[in-house]
Amino acid sequence: MEAQIESLQAEALAAINAAETSAALDAARVKYMGRAGAIPLLSEGMRTVAKEDKARVGKALNALRTDVTAALEAREYALAHAADAAALSQIDVTLPGIAPLRGSIHPLTQLLDKAVRIFRRMGFAIAEGPDIETEWHCFDALNTPPHHPARNEQDTFYMPDGRLLRTHTSTVQIRTMENQPPPVRIIAPGAAYRRDEVDATHLAQFTQMEGLYVAEKVSVADLKGTIEFFFRELFGEGTAIRFRPHFFPFTEPSFEIDIQTASLGGKWMELAGCGMVDPAVFEQICSRRLDRAYDPDKVSGFAFGFGLDRLAMNLTGIPDIRMLVENDLRFLKQF
Ligand code: DAH
Repeated sequence: MEAQIESLQAEALAAINAAETSAALDAARVKYMGRAGAIPLLSEGMRTVAKEDKARVGKALNALRTDVTAALEAREYALAHAADAAALSQIDVTLPGIAPLRGSIHPLTQLLDKAVRIFRRMGFAIAEGPDIETEWHCFDALNTPPHHPARNEQDTFYMPDGRLLRTHTSTVQIRTMENQPPPVRIIAPGAAYRRDEVDATHLAQFTQMEGLYVAEKVSVADLKGTIEFFFRELFGEGTAIRFRPHFFPFTEPSFEIDIQTASLGGKWMELAGCGMVDPAVFEQICSRRLDRAYDPDKVSGFAFGFGLDRLAMNLTGIPDIRMLVENDLRFLKQF
């Protein structure tokens, strides 16, 4: 029996160390250690071993099992290691790598982030509304009567069901006031659409930012202070700002805002519209809400709106608005 153990040990260890693949190693494992393998088979012979020899032979059998198990483990590790080394030998670590393509933030998004940060500091929250709007939210509620030229089919994209692509983000003023009582202090950045001929200064889809502040005793002074703070933060300390009387159906009085910066060489540039919310707008809201939360005798407010594309162009010297949507990497990489 002991001689058998010895020769089986030599045979098993030789077979294990000769295994060149994990499949060959598995075969050796089954052959010697498997349920019907050589070692379990030999162990059955223990029954016939004389009583006084049992301890010695048992010990030798245990040693055989331990040695073969250890040899299997060592060989398995060696094979895995060799496979890894072979895979790595295909890689030349001295070759130059492939640099990942680094994107950058679109100039319009950069401006939007900056604008939002400035208004956040003044307590404005972001509000949203749908791009496909009802005529009521886009025009009627904003005191824009049916005969107004802005409602012309030549100026706006209408859906078959009578809804339209919003021509301005002023719609979000209305949606905000419909849904929450004063005080409200919101900005609403988003897309606006017009049936414009696309050229260097016009797109059929562009980006606007609307603002609205309604509370008790809001005055033109609040409007001017807010707007001046915003444009000075954006364009720098030396920026001159001018409020020019204008007309918008939804504000009274209304102004256009012009700025003058060193980079404009003394020229005034028109940037935004604004004004005090027209009492007629508040009355529309009251009739929708079925309450007097926006009673024009109790609350007042200001609103403003500007085109972000135009602003981005002027801040960064982009000569053609179409560049903002063409996704030309040579252009985008500059920002
Ligand atoms: N909605 C106007 C436009 O698209 C911009 C505007 C002007 C918004 C005056 C306002 C405002 O809120 O008070 O040209």
